Amino acid sequence: MRILCTGGAGFIGSHTCVELMAAGHDVIVVDNYVNSQPEALKRVEELAGRALKSYECDCADREAMNRVFDENEIDAVIHFAGLKAVGESVQQPLRYYRNNLDATLTLVEVMAAHGCKRIVFSSSATVYGVPDEVPLREDMFCKGCTNPYGWTKYMIEKILQDVHTADPEWSVVLLRYFNPIGAHESGRIGENPNGIPNNLMPYITRVAAGQLKQLSVFGSDYDTPDGTGVRDYIHVVDLARGHVDACAWAAANKGCEIINLGTGVGYSVLELVKAFERVNGIKVPYVIAPRRPGDVAACYADPAKAERVLGWRTEKTLDDMCRDAWRYQCQNPNGYNA
Ligand code: UFG
Repeated sequence: MRILCTGGAGFIGSHTCVELMAAGHDVIVVDNYVNSQPEALKRVEELAGRALKSYECDCADREAMNRVFDENEIDAVIHFAGLKAVGESVQQPLRYYRNNLDATLTLVEVMAAHGCKRIVFSSSATVYGVPDEVPLREDMFCKGCTNPYGWTKYMIEKILQDVHTADPEWSVVLLRYFNPIGAHESGRIGENPNGIPNNLMPYITRVAAGQLKQLSVFGSDYDTPDGTGVRDYIHVVDLARGHVDACAWAAANKGCEIINLGTGVGYSVLELVKAFERVNGIKVPYVIAPRRPGDVAACYADPAKAERVLGWRTEKTLDDMCRDAWRYQCQNPNGYNA
């Protein structure tokens, strides 16, 4: 298939491009590079051993998006593009709603106008809000998000469900990601957050590298086995392969499916720190700090539906995630800025 990846130069997008190309698909990327760099796509091409086509433009730019669809016979779209920092979304709600919703609305209108009716969307476990119970299943009621970023994911899921209801010819897959970490095992592509990282694994790798002094463990009094927060960490390459399977499903089926992409196993902050230290033989100094507002005690997936519908399951271990994240950090101490 010819697959358009919006936001294809980002962390999850770039890993997905590699897996799509390895599976024989042709990839077209649209990215505005607000939170990513063209260098990622050069490295994707290097890993895939062939070229992809890329456009520097915003999904909300209708004229530019029409050109992309006029110039390419696109079979399916994976929509990664969007702003994604939870804290920033609380400070700048209008920017988040405008950016994430506008990009999606324009993209889907342009797709419909060109008769392209297959879309896989980057949603998030954040749409479950504060869970009453874990593991989280797709049919559980979402009681509401804790921040504007999460609400944009929630609203986009709803928009795409309504698009399918109005026109059942659409194939819509809403992928709810848990906590993607790690990197491609080559060490050539990985996660490059702007400034000081908000998320746990990029923070750990920078502490281990000596770029940051110590990790703050946000809360040690949660109702979890060791008191620190529990999450479902998933290797970004496993996650990327889930998108390949979602595209195959969309090519063979019409419908609208919500699917969790997670391992089904939760690890605590301290378990992740210990695994990282053991696997890589390096210390990660940390201090216990107050809870971070908006965090939940435990969040992990029931991944049964992904296996049933997509035939997908994770293959990589927590040790793989720790090793690959550290390899990327060591080989790219300044990210893609050589
Ligand atoms: N944590 C720390 N110290 C840090 C950073 C994080 O102790 O410096 C802890 C958090 O309190 C939490 C765990 O590490 O218990 C994971 O935190 P992350 O920030 O890495 O991830 P979150 O689970 O908070 O959020 C992630 C994504 C969101 C997404 C959400 C879905 O960042 O985009 O998962 O549940 F919405």
